[in-house]
Amino acid sequence: MECEKDDRILAGEFMIKMKNIAKRYHIGDNIVNALDGVDLQVSEGEFTAIIGPSGSGKSTLMNMIGCLDVPDEGEYILDGEVIAGCNEVQLARIRNRKIGFIFQSFNLLNKLTALENVELPLVYQNLKTSERRRRALEALELVNLADRVKHKPTELSGGQQQRVAIARALASQPSIILADEPTGNLDSKTGAEIMKIFHKLHDSGHTIVLITHDSKVAQQAQHRVNIQDGKITSVNNE
Ligand SMILES: Nc1ncnc2c1ncn2[C@@H]1O[C@H](COP(=O)(O)OP(=O)(O)OP(=O)(O)O)[C@@H](O)[C@H]1O
Ligand SMILES: [Mg+2]
Repeated sequence: MECEKDDRILAGEFMIKMKNIAKRYHIGDNIVNALDGVDLQVSEGEFTAIIGPSGSGKSTLMNMIGCLDVPDEGEYILDGEVIAGCNEVQLARIRNRKIGFIFQSFNLLNKLTALENVELPLVYQNLKTSERRRRALEALELVNLADRVKHKPTELSGGQQQRVAIARALASQPSIILADEPTGNLDSKTGAEIMKIFHKLHDSGHTIVLITHDSKVAQQAQHRVNIQDGKITSVNNE
């Protein structure tokens, strides 16, 4: 079953539209306002960085954007779908179709080759084996790993592993690429190579949301959203 559609958004206004999002955690008698009245808008094709110090609410916000969790309050519309009213099954479907996740720790399966890692999420999209392979190879070529498709993660450098993870995110042709500290485990030179790939994806029309505490990384995005104590404090454009 589809979630409720929002016609204004389907008309192509925003890829991400959040209004007054709140998320609270209860620890004993204490309440942590992890997100406290967050408004966020991202248009199709934009490259946005969300930056803030440790504990500011970045991962909580990423979980909301990526439909891994739903807010306690507020509205969230992602690519025309109203997220707040969705159940677990609907959220999982939306994640598979609309979000390409990239994590700091790559999250690849060590027993599978690079190619198999990239193909795996496509299994849930009911694609033929030949189409899965074609898409996975195309994504690996885009991140310049055509000569490493048979390697397993342990036989690849950190930068190469992150490029496999980017290829995996791309292969399902998501509406947005959502990256949480994608350069956090890499040295600065390798991190810069990964950022180059994000620029290439942005140039070819992808919508990217990148979460970081590193101002040098955030500086490279088109828009910077600053978060502090669960609130958005400022938005800077390039
Ligand atoms: N599952 C949880 N239960 C209780 N409190 C939580 C939980 N997850 C996060 N918090 C609290 O919510 C606030 C925001 O946490 P969050 O993980 O979103 O921060 P962050 O900006 O991602 O930090 P970091 O840069 O260290 O990853 C923090 O005060 C944290 O202690
Ligand atoms: Mg975090």
